[in-house]
Amino acid sequence: MLKKLPLTLQSTTLWDYPSQHYGSKMQGSQFYQGATPSYIIWNLLTRYTRDNDLIVDPMCGSGTTIDVCCDLKRRVSGYDIAPFRKDMIKADARNLPLDKDQADFVFVDPPYSDHLQYSQEEECIGRIKAEDPLYFEEMEKVIKEIHRILKPRRYMGLYICDSYKKKSGFVPIGFKMFEILCRYFKPIDIIAVTRHNKSLQKSQWKKAALEGNFYLRGFNYLFIMKKE
Ligand SMILES: C[S@@+](CC[C@H](N)C(=O)[O-])C[C@H]1O[C@@H](n2cnc3c(N)ncnc32)[C@H](O)[C@@H]1O
Repeated sequence: MLKKLPLTLQSTTLWDYPSQHYGSKMQGSQFYQGATPSYIIWNLLTRYTRDNDLIVDPMCGSGTTIDVCCDLKRRVSGYDIAPFRKDMIKADARNLPLDKDQADFVFVDPPYSDHLQYSQEEECIGRIKAEDPLYFEEMEKVIKEIHRILKPRRYMGLYICDSYKKKSGFVPIGFKMFEILCRYFKPIDIIAVTRHNKSLQKSQWKKAALEGNFYLRGFNYLFIMKKE
């Protein structure tokens, strides 16, 4: 169990969050598989946005971004192909119902390959394996759409993890995604965020990693980019 510590702004490129949620409430849902630790979003919004700015999350899952925006008094539009709550708008992240240059900041935590099943929606990018080039083609459409809706000289954050599967091996999703991001945005920084995935602690996984000569995913990338 992670200990709840006071929220602090991170000053290095290695972030370790003290708990999935901060304070006495939850941000997003603890019952949603693949929810973003709210601490990550809090740190980004505190650094890169101001009161009343419009924040967009095009793949908002359980609504962590919406709840952090509410705490920080930011306006927010949360979209998802399979909305989990009533305050989200059903939309495809590749074609958002927003005019260009509207958002003051965009945060996105996309599916990393097909490791989790988010919904039955045909258009869910989480149905595409990262081994298939189509995954990166569709993610490039999401990145292009983020570029369209973001105001010039504003920032975005993309949170992603590499993939390892026993049968198909390693896919460096982070490096590939960063290369796509750089086609549209100026890189500001790359943060490594410690993962606290429960399966990392399980002894059978540790044993499998040692015996199978592979590594368990210990960190996520957080790419911070700027629209010029
Ligand atoms: C890793 S989860 C996001 C987690 C979220 N940040 C949270 O804290 O709960 C990825 C989300 O992407 C959504 N998604 C997948 N394909 C999509 C698409 N084409 N358009 C919009 N959302 C999509 C899934 O439904 C899922 O909710």
